[in-house]
Amino acid sequence: MRFTGVLEHRIADPGLDYLESGNAFLSRLLGSHLVYRPAGDDMGRAMQEVAASLLSSGEHPYIIPGGGSTPLGSLGYAQCAEELVQQAATAQLRLDYIIHPTGSGGTQAGLIAGLECVQSGTKVLGISVKAPREQQESHVHALAQATAKLMECVRDIDRKAVEVNSDYVGPGYGRADAATVEAIELVARLEGVILDPVYTGKAMAGLMDLIRLKRFSGKDTVVFLHTGGAPALFSYRELFMRQDSTSDTPRETRNQPLKNVV
Ligand SMILES: Cc1ncc(COP(=O)(O)O)c(C=O)c1O
Repeated sequence: MRFTGVLEHRIADPGLDYLESGNAFLSRLLGSHLVYRPAGDDMGRAMQEVAASLLSSGEHPYIIPGGGSTPLGSLGYAQCAEELVQQAATAQLRLDYIIHPTGSGGTQAGLIAGLECVQSGTKVLGISVKAPREQQESHVHALAQATAKLMECVRDIDRKAVEVNSDYVGPGYGRADAATVEAIELVARLEGVILDPVYTGKAMAGLMDLIRLKRFSGKDTVVFLHTGGAPALFSYRELFMRQDSTSDTPRETRNQPLKNVV
C-alpha cells in the first residue's frame, strides 16, 4: 500500500528545516510521495484531484481527510477516553479535566464522545492552535455528535460539553511565541517529555497560564494529554537557537518549576 501526502504550504517563509526535516523527513523515509499546494487552497478538492489522477492510473485510492477528523477517525480518541477512565479508576483517581491541543477537531470530538459514553463526568478543554473559539467549538460539537451516533451509545452531546480556549494561538497556526518555547523547554528539562511548537507546546503554554490564572482548584486532577508531534520540533530548531541568543533572561531563571504542573 502506497501513501501520497497532500500538504498545504501554510507557512509563508519556511526554511530548509521546515521543508525537509521533522515529519516531512519521516514521511519520505517511510516511502511517502508528497504533493504540495499553496496556502489557502481547498485541500479537500486537492485530495480529490490527486485521488482521481491515481484512479486513472489504475490505483485504488482511499482518502483520509486532514487530521483523520471524521466520525470514524474520532473513534480512536473515544477509545483513548475509555482507556484513560479505566486507568484512573485503577489508580483510584477522579479525573476532573483533560487538556489537549485542538486543530482539525477529531481529538476533542472523540474524547468528548468517549467520555459521554462511559458517563465519566470528566471535562475536556481543547486549546486551539488555529481557529477562534466559537468556530472551533461548533465544528467539534458537530463532529462529536456524529461520532457518538456512530458509537450508538449516547443520543446527544450537550453543546456545553464542548469547551475550547483560543487565547494561546499566538502569532498563528504553526507559529510559536515565547510562551510556547518556554513551555517546551520547561517540560523537556523538568520531565524529559518532548513537546512540539505547533500543537502540544501551545497547549502546555495554555495550561501553564491557566494554572497561573487559577482556572483550576488545587484539588482538581488535570490530565495533559500528549497527542504526539515531537518530530515537528526538529523543523523548528532555529526558533530555539534564536531564543537562546536573543534572550536577556538567564536560562536558569527561565526554568523555575511551576507549582501544580505535574
Ligand atoms: C501532534 C498533534 N497534536 C494535536 C493535534 C490536533 O488534533 P486534531 O487535529 O484532532 O484536533 C494534531 C493534529 O494534527 C497533532 O498533529
